[in-house]
Amino acid sequence: MANLVPQHQIWAGPSIVAGDFADLRCEIERLTAAGADYIHLDVMDGHFVPNITIGAPVVKDLRKTTALPLDAHLMITHPLQYIDDFAKAGADIITVHLESEGDTAQALKKIRTHHIIPALAIKPGTPAEQALSLLPLVGMVLVMTVEPGFSGQAFMPDMLPKIRAIRDEITRRDLPVGIQVDGGINAQTAREAVAAGANILVAGNYLFGADDVAAAIAALRA
Ligand code: DX5
Ligand code: ZN
Repeated sequence: MANLVPQHQIWAGPSIVAGDFADLRCEIERLTAAGADYIHLDVMDGHFVPNITIGAPVVKDLRKTTALPLDAHLMITHPLQYIDDFAKAGADIITVHLESEGDTAQALKKIRTHHIIPALAIKPGTPAEQALSLLPLVGMVLVMTVEPGFSGQAFMPDMLPKIRAIRDEITRRDLPVGIQVDGGINAQTAREAVAAGANILVAGNYLFGADDVAAAIAALRA
């Protein structure tokens, strides 16, 4: 799984937080069949963000429902304490927030020891510059395009220059790093984010609200 995340090719995947939590197996099978490239799992602890979702035991059981890469977005205060659990549960990508407590570089290195992809997320208020020194430790940067915590919020166009700045730095240093955007992504905002340098798209409301999910996934990739 070492170089699983694409650096330029577009990936589109659902954030299952916008799905039916009582029927996640069915939701993931449906999105897998519709052509999703990966599944984004929003882990929220009610402390780092004002919402609570799922933990590693749920990820472990969801692992059995799809062969697609599982991307665990940890919106939790103490990620270092839980990395082993999420890795053992079967996550292929583990994303930690720069704004969480503890040594972020240490957390990213710990993810790598499990031979899975470490990723770094930054909230809307965190400037690109703060992420740049950690780029050699990650396979993906997640630029949040809403305040983390809830699905269904509007995309923040102010984040486009940040995506561009990080993409320019990745290109300048020729690093094997993809850029993910998360929050308010639909066919239109995906186009803007990709034009700015993003290549890994997460969509919650847009995909779960679509009548034709396969067409919606294709629209994101186009
Ligand atoms: C927000 C989460 C996102 C979000 C995506 O904290 O990280 O994954 O739920 O949902 P939409 O696409 O509806 O903004
Ligand atoms: Zn997310």
